[in-house]
Amino acid sequence: MPSPRLPPVPRVHALRDFEPLARKRLPRQLYSYIHNGADDERSLAGNRSAFDDYSLVPRMLTGVSGRSQAIELFGQTYASPFGISPVGLGAMYAYRGDLVLTGQARAAGIPAVLSGSSLIPMETVAQAAPGTWFQAYMPGDPARVEALLARIERAGFGTLVLTVDLPVMVNPENYLRNGFSTPLRPSLRLAWDGLSRPRWLLGTFGRTLLRHGMPHFENWRAERGAPIVSATVQRDFLARDHLDWSHFRLIRQAWKGPLIVKGLMRWQDAQIARDAGVDGIVVSNHGGRQIDGAVAPLRVLPEICRAVPELPVMMDGGVRRGSDVLKALSLGARCVFAGRPFNYAAAVAGEAGVAHAIRILRDEIDRNMALMGINRLDELDATLVRHIDSFRP
Ligand SMILES: Cc1cc2nc3c(=O)[nH]c(=O)nc-3n(C[C@H](O)[C@H](O)[C@H](O)COP(=O)(O)O)c2cc1C
Repeated sequence: MPSPRLPPVPRVHALRDFEPLARKRLPRQLYSYIHNGADDERSLAGNRSAFDDYSLVPRMLTGVSGRSQAIELFGQTYASPFGISPVGLGAMYAYRGDLVLTGQARAAGIPAVLSGSSLIPMETVAQAAPGTWFQAYMPGDPARVEALLARIERAGFGTLVLTVDLPVMVNPENYLRNGFSTPLRPSLRLAWDGLSRPRWLLGTFGRTLLRHGMPHFENWRAERGAPIVSATVQRDFLARDHLDWSHFRLIRQAWKGPLIVKGLMRWQDAQIARDAGVDGIVVSNHGGRQIDGAVAPLRVLPEICRAVPELPVMMDGGVRRGSDVLKALSLGARCVFAGRPFNYAAAVAGEAGVAHAIRILRDEIDRNMALMGINRLDELDATLVRHIDSFRP
């Protein structure tokens, strides 16, 4: 099993330990952008509590000395059944953040997805970390779609993740409370929050400005997008609310490699996606950042797996522990993803942080596989997990 050879991060024993350290490291605008969910954050909380509603039912005396947590996905072998979700603005949390995340994922043999809202040109990332998946938000008009797909392919990405849960921009109230916007607007408060985080200011933002200039949304479209800090520039959020499955089918025709749709929550949509030729699904509510009150992905995972048994179904949202991973896999997921924890880890300690986060989750999975009485992940099934309701009289 590939294992990143970077030292552990002091005081971090579980993924949740990264968060308070990242909070101290990042200006409040950026911390809020990662941390907050939409509106009253019910979906954000629900993503975690869904895992608590399932209990594990371990097997005993099965001989578990031959454990392997490797999985096969789209013809590749991955060393662990988890990956790094696409998260925008990675290079603002850690110096060259997108390279840090994708590089460590590659070193550890797990999938990582580069966000379409990232700040390092996709060509640079594809070259440094071959095998990274690319996530796109479909542009609203066909000419832009074609140009973007051509660029992604030219850059060398094989696997495309299409995020479909953003027909309009989300309600930014929690970001506004903390002074976050895209682009960030220069203000006294922004300057003060930056100055009060000198390690971030010098080590991440200042270093980036000096060496690479002002970060821009490099991968939103085929052409370069807006800068991350600007008093006047507007981001191109041209209309996308007319998009429907016919647009998806056009992309399917144009993209020859594995095509994954991210953000489905209904088994009916999973079947439409299957019929439209998708290769995989990520069940996701965008980490509780879209419609507040949206069901937790874990809760709809079993019905989606039942509806499209021929497809690899993956999920993200609230995965923080090895036991969460085993619960999701017992309910039918082939692989899970996590977003916030890896980005906090990058903010706290760069490459060593991400390597440590991967190691923590991997070790927890290995230990929990032994405690569950299994050697291989395909031994996980619905008999090893029980929903809380099944214990009620
Ligand atoms: C700060 C932030 C930015 C995100 N940006 C994107 C993005 O650009 N594209 C996308 O498909 N999902 C994006 N997501 C959603 C993640 O891919 C993922 O679905 C979510 O983070 C999973 O939940 P978790 O953070 O609880 O693990 C973002 C999430 C966060 C926290």
